[in-house]
Amino acid sequence: MEIVILPKPEDVLDAGAKIVEDQIRSHPRSVLGLATGGTMEGVYERLIGRRLDFSGVQTFNLDEYVGVGPDDRGSYAAYMRKYLFERVNLKPENCHLLDGTTSDIRAHCQAYEDAIKRAGGIDLQLLGIGHDGHIAFNEPGSSMASRTRLKTLTPDTRKNNAPHFPEGEEVPLHVLTMGIGTILDTRRCVLLAYGKNKSPVIAQAVEGPLTAMCPASALQWHRHCTLIVDEEAAHKLARQDYYKFVYKNKPGS
Ligand code: PGA
Repeated sequence: MEIVILPKPEDVLDAGAKIVEDQIRSHPRSVLGLATGGTMEGVYERLIGRRLDFSGVQTFNLDEYVGVGPDDRGSYAAYMRKYLFERVNLKPENCHLLDGTTSDIRAHCQAYEDAIKRAGGIDLQLLGIGHDGHIAFNEPGSSMASRTRLKTLTPDTRKNNAPHFPEGEEVPLHVLTMGIGTILDTRRCVLLAYGKNKSPVIAQAVEGPLTAMCPASALQWHRHCTLIVDEEAAHKLARQDYYKFVYKNKPGS
């Protein structure tokens, strides 16, 4: 895992957007794995400003709430339209999201996995991280080999996500999410995090044991994972000086 420690949250967002930009410019027909949440808003904002050509790009989102349809305000489909899809030239038929109102969850999740495969796999996956170590909605205890399926959110995750959900509506208990195995199959993944609150979980994910109790620790097993954090999120990493040294001396940079 490559650990990049940058001074400020804005630097983390700039660096995340730059990786996506480079991916699209060098491979205009890229398959991107997209994430939602507060951290990603800043990444999408930056991408919009860079006048990229998304016409050949395909996207797959990580997760969606069960019982929530694409037109519902609280859906991740609505989030993606607001922050990215309506502001760039992505073709609607190339934007894939799980449908939380599907009548056959098992078949729908399998079809999502099949669609990723048909697209040639995900070239670049964006990831945030929850305070409990979740990636996508794989909460602690999720199988490291898991594929897209239904999961139950923890009370903490529901509480943390409540401010992002329409006022007066409850955050659903169930979600559909790509699995950890699905994420590990991506060719490259980039996890972004900033702020002091994320520092304990960043330390666990990077320097703790590989354990289902911290789903993000599975990324230690990923073939090409870059984790970009600000100084505050990095401050509990025991080997932060070494990570900075490695980054500074990165060949070719
Ligand atoms: P955040 O969410 O970017 O809003 O902190 C990350 C996550 O829960 O995956």
